[in-house]
Amino acid sequence: MESSRKLGSSHHSKSYATQGCFTLMILITSALFLFNFPPSDHAASPSLTSTKILASRLHSASNYISSLSSIVASSARFLSGSCNCSDAQGEEEEEDVSSCDLFDGRWVEDDDSKPLYKPGSCPFIDDSFNCFKNGRPDSDYLRLRWKPSGCKLPRFDGLKMLKMLRGKRLVFVGDSLNRNMWESLICSLRESLVNKSRLFEVSGHYEFKTQGYHSFMFKDFQCSIEFLKSPFLVQQRQFSDMAGVQRETLRLDKIQTSLTEYRDADIIIFNTGHWWTHQNTNKWNNYFQEGKHVFRSMAVADAYTKALKTWAKWVDANIKNHTRVFFRGYSASHFKGGQWNSGGSCDGETRPIRNESHLAPYPWMMKVLESVIAEMKTPVLYLNISRMTDYRKDGHPSIFKQSRRQRLPGMIQDCSHWCLPGVPDAWNELLYATLLISHPNSP
Ligand SMILES: *[C@@H]1O[C@H](CO)[C@@H](O)[C@H](O)[C@H]1NC(C)=O
Ligand SMILES: *[C@@H]1O[C@H](CO)[C@@H](O)[C@H](O)[C@H]1NC(C)=O
Ligand SMILES: *[C@@H]1O[C@H](CO)[C@@H](O)[C@H](O)[C@H]1NC(C)=O
Ligand SMILES: *[C@@H]1O[C@H](CO)[C@@H](O)[C@H](O)[C@H]1NC(C)=O
Repeated sequence: MESSRKLGSSHHSKSYATQGCFTLMILITSALFLFNFPPSDHAASPSLTSTKILASRLHSASNYISSLSSIVASSARFLSGSCNCSDAQGEEEEEDVSSCDLFDGRWVEDDDSKPLYKPGSCPFIDDSFNCFKNGRPDSDYLRLRWKPSGCKLPRFDGLKMLKMLRGKRLVFVGDSLNRNMWESLICSLRESLVNKSRLFEVSGHYEFKTQGYHSFMFKDFQCSIEFLKSPFLVQQRQFSDMAGVQRETLRLDKIQTSLTEYRDADIIIFNTGHWWTHQNTNKWNNYFQEGKHVFRSMAVADAYTKALKTWAKWVDANIKNHTRVFFRGYSASHFKGGQWNSGGSCDGETRPIRNESHLAPYPWMMKVLESVIAEMKTPVLYLNISRMTDYRKDGHPSIFKQSRRQRLPGMIQDCSHWCLPGVPDAWNELLYATLLISHPNSP
């Protein structure tokens, strides 16, 4: 009952309208320090006394305090250059603000809120995510907006984001869910271009599903937004065994080699997740490898932990210190009555989950991730989207991953990826908010 009230009340959200950039600055500050933001940029002294209040409050709660003061300092400096703070309320807001977490919130219906780009308008969406083109009839799912509980998200401004990204390289590295997010970002930014032909795929290939690497260039901003397929982040290895049979193993101790080409990108957004679950367990036998040793069997949680540690070590050793590293969390799936490959379905879902007791527990993979990034030297900005996606059983392509002509009875439905426009647009709004707060040269 309570959750349905929350979901339906768009007017309710206006009560947060007075909170501005300051709000966001604080909450991202608190998020950053959790991930051990390294002491850097000491130069600026915080001009906002409330940041000190926050610092002392957090002091008692945390053993990461040594890095906190520097985060506060650098965030305060960025704030002055990066936000239009005319609606910030200073210390009065501080009570609410210090407890705000961008990823803790709800989806609100909003008749005024439009998708960041019109359904069917963006030519760079995979057919399999293009629910509009494939004839999905309902549209309520397009009117939901993510609303953090304690603060207000800045409105996505594509032009402002492109200006922040001028001359920069942003690379998504991960599986097809990251491709989903990448396409969403391309389309969201494309909306702000006056001449849309000034955006193109560098190699001229638009078959995003089949190729492992793509780069879009925003010509007038000399900015590229790239996607590199790496579903496990570590190295998949294919070979013929002694009997000539094609085999595959996963090198848990070796990063996927092509990642090395992107280590100097300005922003990298990693993910891995679904491929660790989208297998039947037999496949894991004789699959995981370390050095020359192939494990006859290994629990997938152990393998995942080893792989993430390999990734973390590589990031710490290779990523330049100007690079902002993000990790996008596990995106929820909603297969009902079966798994992804055994008849599970989500067609006909047109509303999100309202009853919070129907949400899944926080994924074990993300608990592993949190403990791995806590040990890293590199600050990793964690896009904690598991719960926000878990609400959205209505957001998947289901049978609309294909056009009517291609649909067959009993087809495998897609309840993992997301329709575009749709849920990944909200991830990019959160990405935008994070960059806006932390970016030193934003306009
Ligand atoms: C939410 O779901 C739980 C478990 O299914 C149920 O017991 C409860 O009554 C539901 N609450 C509402 C408000 O529907
Ligand atoms: C980045 O690395 C360079 C060279 O290793 C170092 O001189 C500089 O202080 C570092 N900057 C920050 C902000 O840590
Ligand atoms: C838009 O950009 C394309 C590619 O650079 C160019 O050929 C075309 O003349 C431009 N159109 C306008 C109206 O400026
Ligand atoms: C991420 O969100 C979940 C709720 O879904 C929460 O339990 C967890 O603590 C959050 N992690 C961080 C680092 O904020």
